[in-house]
Amino acid sequence: MTTSTRLLAGLMFGTALTIAGAAQAQVKEVEMVHWWTSGGEAAALNVLKDDLQKKGYSWKDNPIAGGGGAPAMTVLRARLTSGNIPTAVQMLGFDIQEWAEFGVLANLNAVAEKEGWDKVVPQALQRFSKYNGQWVAAPVNVHSTNWVWLNKAQLDKLGGKAPANWDELVALLEKAKGAGIIPIAHGGQLWQDATLFDSVILTTGGGDFYKKAMIDLDPAALSSPTMKTVFERMAVLRSYVDNNFSGRDWNLASAMVIKGEALMQIMGDWAKGEFVNAGKKPDQDFVCIRFPGTQGQVTFNSDQFALFKVGASREEAQAVLASATMNPAFQSAFNVVKGSAPARTDVSDAAFDACGKKAIADLKEANEKGTLYGSMAHGHANKASVKAAMYDVITSHFNRQITTDQAVAQFQKAVAAAK
Ligand code: GAL
Repeated sequence: MTTSTRLLAGLMFGTALTIAGAAQAQVKEVEMVHWWTSGGEAAALNVLKDDLQKKGYSWKDNPIAGGGGAPAMTVLRARLTSGNIPTAVQMLGFDIQEWAEFGVLANLNAVAEKEGWDKVVPQALQRFSKYNGQWVAAPVNVHSTNWVWLNKAQLDKLGGKAPANWDELVALLEKAKGAGIIPIAHGGQLWQDATLFDSVILTTGGGDFYKKAMIDLDPAALSSPTMKTVFERMAVLRSYVDNNFSGRDWNLASAMVIKGEALMQIMGDWAKGEFVNAGKKPDQDFVCIRFPGTQGQVTFNSDQFALFKVGASREEAQAVLASATMNPAFQSAFNVVKGSAPARTDVSDAAFDACGKKAIADLKEANEKGTLYGSMAHGHANKASVKAAMYDVITSHFNRQITTDQAVAQFQKAVAAAK
C-alpha cells in the first residue's frame, strides 16, 4: 500500500466508525493538534481553552513541539494514516490546500454563511481557508515575518536609532559586536533560517521580485544576480550570530533579547508574544520595526484551524470551535496575547499595544496597495515540497556547507525538481 492509499483507508475506517455511532450523543471535547508550546503561545492558547470550557467543551491538548510546525505535520500524517483523526489541527496555507485536495477536510459553509465570514475575512486568507468555494478552515490570526525585535536599553546604548535600511542595519550590528553584545539572537533551524530569508529577499529585491521568485517560482528570478545578493546578505547576517546558535529554539533566542544578552531578533510577530508574556512593553523595554527596507510591504502567514471529517458525533464540537475562533471579541483577546493581528477586518485595534496596532495598520495598507505576500518560510508562498527544497539550500548556505555561488546555482534547480 502506498502512503496515500493507506491514508485514505485510514480515513474511510474513521468515517465508517462515526457513521455507525451517528445516533450517539455529541462528544463535548475538542482535540487540537498544534505546535504552540512556548510561554507566549501557551498563554494565547489558554484564551481559547477557557472560551471553549465556558461553552461546555473540554480541551484535549495535543502539542507537538517544533517551531514552524514541521514536526506537527509529520505526526498528523501518521495519525491520519492510522485513522486516528483529531477534531482540529493548527495549519498553515498550502498545507490546508493539500489536505483539502485529498477530500478529507470538513465543510464549514453552514457556520461561515450564518456568520458572514466571506465579508470579513481578507481575500488573502480566504485563498487558504477555502477550497473550491468551500470553507475548510477557520483563520485564527495573521502573523507576518518581516519584523525585527530590539532590546530598547541596548539600542539606546548604541545610539538609540533603529535602522531604516540594509546599510544602517549592518552598521548597527557592527556597533553591537564592537560593544560586546550578541548582535543577532538566532536559532539555527531550517524554518528560522528561512524566516530571515523572507526578509532579506524582500529588502533586497522588493515586493515584485519577492513575488516573482518565491510565489511564481520564475527560474530567471531564482537564479538572478539579485538572488546572489540575497545569499551574500544571508552570509553577512550569519556573521553576527553567536557560536551557540545551532538548533536553538526561537523562543530561547527571544529570551536573549528580552534579557539584553542580544540586541535583536529577526522573527515573526509570535516573538512579541514572548516579550508580552515576560511582562515587557513596547517602546519601553523593546522596539518593533519592520525589517529595514521593507516598511510598506508584508510577508504574512495565517494560523488556521483545519477541521477534518471526523463524523457526526464531533461535528457539533467542530462548529462550536469554528464559531468561537471567528468571534470578534475572541479574535481581539487571542491576538493581543499571541502577537498577531486579527483574521477579520472588523476587529478594533483598541486593545492592542503599539506593535499590535502597527501590525494591523501595516497589513491593511499592504492589502490595499497589493504589497501583501505569502511567507515562503511559513507555507504561504508555495507547497510543502518547494518550501522544503528552498529550506535545504538556505540552511546549507547559512551553515557554510556551500558557497554563495553554489547556493545560487542549486536554488533554482532544487525548486524545479520539487515543483
Ligand atoms: C509559525 C506559526 C506561529 C508560531 C511560529 C513559531 O509557523 O504561524 O503561530 O507558532 O510558527 O512556532
